[in-house]
Amino acid sequence: MKILVVYFSQSGQLKNILDNVVQDMKSEAEIDFAEIRPDQAFPFPWSSATFFDAMPESVLQVPAKIQPMPALGNKDYDLVIFGYQPWFLSPSIPANSFLQSEWAEALRNKPVITVIGCRNMWLNAQEKVKEQLQRLGANHIGNIVLEDKHGNLTSTLTIIRWLFKGQKEASGRLPDAGVSERDMRDTQRYGKPILRHIKEGRTEALQQDLLHLGAVHLRPNLIVLEKRGVSQFPKWATKARSKGGPGAPERKPVIKLFSRILITAIFVLSPISSLTAKIKTALKKKQLLKEVAYFKGVTYQAGKLS
Ligand SMILES: Cc1cc2nc3c(=O)[nH]c(=O)nc-3n(C[C@H](O)[C@H](O)[C@H](O)COP(=O)(O)O)c2cc1C
Repeated sequence: MKILVVYFSQSGQLKNILDNVVQDMKSEAEIDFAEIRPDQAFPFPWSSATFFDAMPESVLQVPAKIQPMPALGNKDYDLVIFGYQPWFLSPSIPANSFLQSEWAEALRNKPVITVIGCRNMWLNAQEKVKEQLQRLGANHIGNIVLEDKHGNLTSTLTIIRWLFKGQKEASGRLPDAGVSERDMRDTQRYGKPILRHIKEGRTEALQQDLLHLGAVHLRPNLIVLEKRGVSQFPKWATKARSKGGPGAPERKPVIKLFSRILITAIFVLSPISSLTAKIKTALKKKQLLKEVAYFKGVTYQAGKLS
C-alpha cells in the first residue's frame, strides 16, 4: 500500500501529529511525506505587522507561489493524508496555495483524509477545504482534528506567546501552547483502523469509526463564536486587498484597524461575547446539535456557516 502525506508546518507541530498518525501504518505501507514550501517563507515567530498582513490572502484564499512538487505524480497512491492548519478561520496560505496548484491534481480520484492541527477554530477552514477537494474530484473519507483543549482565553494567550515570541513552553500561570504532547502521541490509534478500511474498501464507514475513537471534539458554542468571525473577516480582507497586495504600504492602515478591533473583540468583549454565545447555544441547542453532527462529518453542503 502506498500513502502520500502532504503538509505544511511552521513550528513542526503538524508534522509531529502526522508522524504519529502514520506510526502504526509503517509496517504495512510505504509512506511518502511531501512538504509544501512557499517560494517566500512566512516568518516564525511572527511580527505583529506580518501576522495581520497575512489575513486578507488567507481569508480570500489568494494563492502564493509554492515550490514545484513533481514527485507527487510519480506513484499511484492508495491514500492521501492532507495535513493543514487554519489561518484566520481559513486554510493557511501554503495549504490553500497547494490545493489551487497543478500539484493538487495528485488528489484527483484518490481517498483523502484531512488532519487539522489548530488552536480551536477550524470549521470555516474545513468547509473551504471540503469545497476544494470536491472541485479536485478527490474522495474525502476522513477528518481528524487536533486542537488546544484549554479554555478559549488561555489558548489565545499561549498562542500569542508562541507565535510572536516563539515560546511554546509554560510560563507564569500559563500552560504550554498548542496541542498537548499526549494528544499528539494518541493519534497513533487511528493508523490501523484507517488501513483496515482502505484494504476492505469500506471507506464510507471510516469517519464514523474515527469519531468513535474521538477524532473530532467540537463544543457547540465554538460554532456560534466562529460564525461571528466568518461574517466579519471577508469585509476587512476585501477592503485591505482593494488597497494593495501583501506588504503594500497603502493597506497598512486597514490592517492596523482590523488588528485593533480583533484584539478588542478578543480581550475586552470576550467575557460578554462568551456569555451571549452561551445564551445563544442554550436557546438553539437542537439546531446546534445538528450542526455539530454535520461539522464532525465529511460531507459538504455549501453555506453551512453563513
Ligand atoms: C497567521 C495565523 C493565523 C491563525 N489562525 C488560526 C485560526 O483561525 N484558528 C485556529 O484554530 N488556529 C489558528 N492559528 C494556529 C494554527 O492553526 C496552528 O495551530 C499553529 O500555527 C501551529 O501550526 P504549525 O504546525 O504550522 O506550526 C493561526 C496561526 C497563524 C500563524
